[in-house]
This record gives sequence, structure tokens and C-alpha cells, in this order.
Amino acid sequence: MGLKKNPNNMNKKIFIKTFGCQMNEYDSNRIFNTVQKIGFQKTENYEDASCYLLNTCHIRDKAKEKVYHEIGRVKKIFRSKKKPLVIITGCVAQAENEEMLKREPYIDLVIGPQSYHKINDTILKHIHNKKKIEETEFDPISKFKYLSKIKNDTNKVSSFLTIQEGCDKFCHFCVVPYTRGPEYSRPFTQILDEAKYLVDNGTKEIILLGQNVNAYNNESYKLSDLVKEIENFPKLERIRYTTSHPKDMTEDLIDLYKNTKKLMPLVHLPVQSGSNKILRLMNRKHTIDDYLKTFYKLKEINPNIEFSSDFIIGYPGEEEEDFNDTINFIDKINFINSFSFIFSPRPGTVAADSKLIDKKILIRRLEKVQNLLFENQRRMNRSLENKILNVLVENLTEDKTQVFGRSEHMTSIIFNGDKNDIGKVVQVKIKQSNRSTLFAEKIKISNQKVA
Ligand code: SAM
Ligand code: SF4
Ligand code: F3S
Repeated sequence: MGLKKNPNNMNKKIFIKTFGCQMNEYDSNRIFNTVQKIGFQKTENYEDASCYLLNTCHIRDKAKEKVYHEIGRVKKIFRSKKKPLVIITGCVAQAENEEMLKREPYIDLVIGPQSYHKINDTILKHIHNKKKIEETEFDPISKFKYLSKIKNDTNKVSSFLTIQEGCDKFCHFCVVPYTRGPEYSRPFTQILDEAKYLVDNGTKEIILLGQNVNAYNNESYKLSDLVKEIENFPKLERIRYTTSHPKDMTEDLIDLYKNTKKLMPLVHLPVQSGSNKILRLMNRKHTIDDYLKTFYKLKEINPNIEFSSDFIIGYPGEEEEDFNDTINFIDKINFINSFSFIFSPRPGTVAADSKLIDKKILIRRLEKVQNLLFENQRRMNRSLENKILNVLVENLTEDKTQVFGRSEHMTSIIFNGDKNDIGKVVQVKIKQSNRSTLFAEKIKISNQKVA
């Protein structure tokens, strides 16, 4: 569209708030890179903003309701000030589209995840004619083509890079196929160009993202091909990918772990339930046996590979026996880290109207699962005390007295480093631990390659 930059719009300030997954974090960053082109600067203060953008998540009901609470908060903050331009992006924008404009007249623009290439034109149009606009077409090809011309200026040691979007699997509980649309894999060279730019600008770790990242397939290039290619950037230290689906853990991807130089030994592989009956009801398209086969194959290749997962507790039809299968499964795998949530019915999904399990039972089951998962985490972290680990240093701690980074298994590490360590792989000795963090002392900068 032929709208030019609006000079009245120069030096405007945008406040961006992000809910949801890493893909939303990546998107928020890319949205900022885009609106910079029409003169927006970023502000970290609500009060300074002339534009307020909320990038939303629809995965559970709580995540969605947070959106309307947040808008209520913004309304209060701006009660005695000039109203900012209010933009809603992300998965709630896609799912509720023009309904949002009706439910909350404070909102000006609603833009879905596959329409971000239209964001500047939409803002400029609104400034021009003050009309409310909703853009929720699925057009990932145009989106990524457009975004590939705008530099990804994250300037972070660890950067996200979306390679795939959407989902064709239609698990019966999940909104993602409706909010992100069908599976789409970005062109191979487009991704490599973005990766190169990130590495040239200081990124040491790339986290490849997709709702089904291991379903990546573009002109027969697979995720394994991408990793092999990205490993060749000499200044890059680490590669990760998330989120994978058990069905797409193909042989080429598993084999990659035999010779990889930079792929980290942590596999985030959501299983959702330890019961085959529940997996069938969920339409997960894999069994516990399939999952275990992948687990044992990878452990055989490298026993240092650890697993993390997602669990849905109390899916309709989950009986005590099914729940016990989940408990036994967690005992077997010893996940290093996991997310667990009570099932939340989502409008439009197959499981939306299923009979819910009693709330008291749900809470008891969630507590039991979380206690087990958290105890595993504590035990595994404790076992690292007095061991030497490689940490990729990301930044200073908030009080600026120490630095923090992550282990190969993604665990947070805080130690007595300084700003010269940022962006380096440093060897540290673990002194103390709790469930989520390791506290360490610096030994020396590592010359060894990690992984
Ligand atoms: N594509 C990934 C997979 O198949 O494993 C999951 C992506 S989804 C954005 C992240 C997690 O949210 C899921 O693994 C699931 O555990 C959780 N989730 C999705 N829908 C949910 C629902 N209706 N209720 C509770 N948790 C849900
Ligand atoms: Fe949702 Fe299932 Fe697709 Fe994952 S695979 S995004 S859980 S529908
Ligand atoms: Fe939420 Fe959409 Fe991500 S529903 S988890 S922001 S894909």
C-alpha cells in the first residue's frame, strides 16, 4: 500500500507488553523493528507512551482474561492523559478479531499474527481517518517476505528466530491451529540470512522457534539441515530449537545429535499425558511407546541429553489410573524441567464442551505432579554442586553485582563475573543450588567447545 511516513507521527513512543510463548516474544521484537520505520521509539514506561501495543496469548482462559484486565489498567493510567493508540496483536486478536473492538471500545486496532506486515500501513491509516481496523488474514508468506527486509535488531546474546509457524495437528484441546493458521515453513535462505545478521551483530546462541519446529519443511530442507548450516557460523556458540512434537522427531534429527558441534543437549518434547488412552482422546498422534523410543535413542547417542516437557492435568476422561500413568512416566524420564497446567476448555476446539473433572480432584492432581517435577529439578540441580559447568553469559544481574547465563541444559546460573564475560562461554564451579537456579564461582574462560 502506498502510504508514506507521516511526519506528525515521528518520535512517537510505543510501549509493548507481551504475554504468551517465545514466538510472541520474537514477534514483539519484530513488530518494534517494523514500527521504528514510521518513527516509533520504545519506552519502558506506560505513562510516556503515545501507542500501547499488547501482544496476547489465547492458550488458556486465564491468559485471555489477562488481556482485558490489562486494558482496564491502561485505561486507569491514561484517565487524565491523552488516550494512546491501543493495538492488540497476537493470538487473542486472531481468535476474537472484531469482537474485541465491540467488547472494549478503548481498543483501536486488532492485528492477527499472520498480518504483521500490514502493521505500519494500518497505523498510518488509523492516524489519517481515525477508523478502527481489524486485520486477521492468514498470509505468512507475505509477512515473512516483508519482515525479511527489516533487520532483526535484538542485539541479544541469546536470540529467538522463528522458522516455522502454525499447526496442522489439531490436538483436541488446543487453539493454536486456529490462531496461528496452517503450518508454514519459512524459506531456508531467508532464515540463514537472518541467522547471519544476528550472529554478525553479537548473538552467540540462536533458539529456532516454531509451534511445531521439528515439522519444518521447506523445499525438502528439514530442521536438521538448518541446524547443520547454522552451526557453520564460527562466532555462534549454541543452537536450540523449540517446541517439538514427538511425532516429528525423525531419524535425521535424532542422528544430528551424533556429530553436532553446537546443538545443546536438551530436548523440550511435550508429552501432555502418560496415558495412551488420554493421548488418543487428545488426538496427539503419538503413543507413550513412540515417546520412549525417541528418549532411549537419544540417551544412547548421548547420555548427557536431558528432556523437558509440558503436561495437561485433568483432561476430560482422565481417570485415576490414567493420572497414575502420568506419575509413573515422570518417574521414568526424570525431566529436568517441565510445565504443567490444568486443562482449560477453549472455544472452538473439539474438547471445548467435554465434561470437566471435579475441581478438587484437579487441584490435588496438579499439586502431585508439580511436587514430583519440582523435586526432580531440585535433586538434579543439587547433584551439580561442586561440578564444573560451561555457562553462556547473557547479562549482568539486576543489581549489577554479578552476571547470569545458562548452562547447556538451559538452567539459570548466577556467578561472580563482570561485564567482560557477557557473550562468552565461561567455566564455573557450582557452589549452591535451588530448584530453578545454580549459584557458582568463576574458574576461567573456556577454550573448549561446548556440547
Ligand atoms: N506444539 C506444542 C506441542 O504440541 O507440544 C505445544 C505448543 S502449546 C503453545 C504449549 C503448551 O500449552 C502445550 O504443550 C500444552 O501443554 C499447553 N496447552 C495447550 N492448550 C491447553 C489447554 N487448552 N489447557 C491447558 N494447557 C494447554
Ligand atoms: Fe497445539 Fe497440538 Fe499443534 Fe502443539 S501440536 S500447537 S498442542 S494443536
Ligand atoms: Fe499463546 Fe499463541 Fe503462543 S496462544 S502460547 S501466544 S502461539
